[in-house]
Amino acid sequence: MEKELEQIRQKCLNCTKCSLSKTRHNVVFSDGVPNNKLVLVGEAPGYYEDMKGIPFVGKAGQLLDKIFDCVGLSRKKDVYIMNTIKCRPPENRNPLPEEKRACREYLDAQLEILKPKIILICGNVALESLLDLPYGITRARGNWFEGKYNSKMMPIYHPSYLLRNNSREKGSPKWQMWQDIKEVKRVYESL
Ligand code: URA
Repeated sequence: MEKELEQIRQKCLNCTKCSLSKTRHNVVFSDGVPNNKLVLVGEAPGYYEDMKGIPFVGKAGQLLDKIFDCVGLSRKKDVYIMNTIKCRPPENRNPLPEEKRACREYLDAQLEILKPKIILICGNVALESLLDLPYGITRARGNWFEGKYNSKMMPIYHPSYLLRNNSREKGSPKWQMWQDIKEVKRVYESL
């Protein structure tokens, strides 16, 4: 698994298929541990990720770590983390369709190698890429969908959305995330 991922990473590091390759500082391929149980697919690198070449290291990433911690999961031991798009879009704008198309082969290759049992689809950009639904993350979150390789896929809110919505009251986005991550842990434990 590691060797195959490394081959794709090398290819991705040299990628010039879209114009983001001209503005990036680093390709942001993945973090965490290659494993076939739990994978998270985010959106695209932001400023800190682009600078470091590691996904989810800014504020949203720190919150993501806390969310995993709450249910006893850790990115160092349990989760493989990657993004839909491997290079930062300028000013953190949403990735363009041609950028998503160009980057798709890397996302597909990563998933094909890992064949994860659980895929967390983090935010709307990942949701649009991985599931063809007539609705967005607010309605999709917290539900299980069947994916390729018998994967169970759950859309969850993006942590940057949670950073903008501070309430922890019942029914709030943070409260919903807490329900979702507990459900993820329950299924994770049963695998
Ligand atoms: N948001 C993402 O979706 N991915 C990152 O790596 C950082 C922020």
